[in-house]
Amino acid sequence: MNDKSFTLGLLTSGGDAPGMNATIRAVVRTAMANNAKVLGIANGYEGLVRGEFRSMGARDVGGILQRGGTILQTRRSPRFQEPKGQREAIRRMNEAGMDGLIVIGGDGSLRGARALASQGVKVVGIPASIDNDIWGTDMAIGVDTALNTIMEAVDKLRDTASSHSRAFLIETMGRNSGYLAVMAGIVCGAEVVLIPEVPSTVDEVAHSMEDAYLRGKTHAIMIVAEGSNIRTTDLARIIDEMDVGFKTRVTILGHIQRGGRPTAFDRLLAARMGTKAVELLLEGKTDVMVGLKSIGVEEVNLEEVTTKARPAALSYYEMAKMLAR
Ligand code: ADP
Ligand code: F6P
Repeated sequence: MNDKSFTLGLLTSGGDAPGMNATIRAVVRTAMANNAKVLGIANGYEGLVRGEFRSMGARDVGGILQRGGTILQTRRSPRFQEPKGQREAIRRMNEAGMDGLIVIGGDGSLRGARALASQGVKVVGIPASIDNDIWGTDMAIGVDTALNTIMEAVDKLRDTASSHSRAFLIETMGRNSGYLAVMAGIVCGAEVVLIPEVPSTVDEVAHSMEDAYLRGKTHAIMIVAEGSNIRTTDLARIIDEMDVGFKTRVTILGHIQRGGRPTAFDRLLAARMGTKAVELLLEGKTDVMVGLKSIGVEEVNLEEVTTKARPAALSYYEMAKMLAR
């Protein structure tokens, strides 16, 4: 763990996600605690190819824990997807004396990490994307914050929807994943949820809306994931033409879902994943991602619940001290 000469590169890539800054902070401060050096890479893989590196210390990550976005900036880099771009990136890393790399990003960014690992670069990935479409982790950093943003918006829209007896079609992000829409459907009590994974017909949707109207509902909330098989605006127009009882309005939440202060859950996940990623890299691990596993609900014996003491969160107590440096 205490390899004085270890220099790790750190980048954020793909769509930004709330909690990326908290992750940067956790990585830098865990590295400092282990006498490793950090070179922050600006602009994701594009900055890796261009050699946009800067040394980062504990003070460089002060005051960012609660901020959305990423102080390292992020880009999408088509040229890094080509072997030539990757070769250039590896040359830049070698020139700068980087011993390993931590990539914070979504599924595309992790594919980029894999490409580097297969060419001998030591890489550890940290999943961060509001889409929650990454295999191997129950939650990615940013998902919880995005879901809370959606929930706040839908709560507000319901107020005006029920005042006017309207149906609101609310479009969420997620690219080809319906995760945000489904979970928003549960936490906001939506009447209908449309996701890319389960194609629907306009008739089915219209029937659900009409059914809600006939049951005496004063509003209908429909969450439409952006990658769904019917476009939100088309759906609203057709439902209006079909006259299901409610008149419709459309709200496309858009990039507001990507911004804002990370929730406590995302900050904690950032601390846990950032710390673990550095530990793995310093242990010599490569070609891996840190993943949050098993937050499922299971039955627990009441006899155990009432006779056993829950252990104190001492590892987190140590983490809090280390990250406050
Ligand atoms: P996200 O990480 O949020 O899913 P993207 O899919 O846009 O975002 O990917 C971010 C960047 O990762 C891309 O611009 C590209 O530089 C890199 N990348 C994506 N897929 C690959 C791949 N198959 N091989 C190498 N690099 C990739
Ligand atoms: O991957 C995150 C995400 O916000 C998706 O939900 C969305 O489809 C896409 O990025 C939008 O990308 P851009 O930043 O190019 O608008």
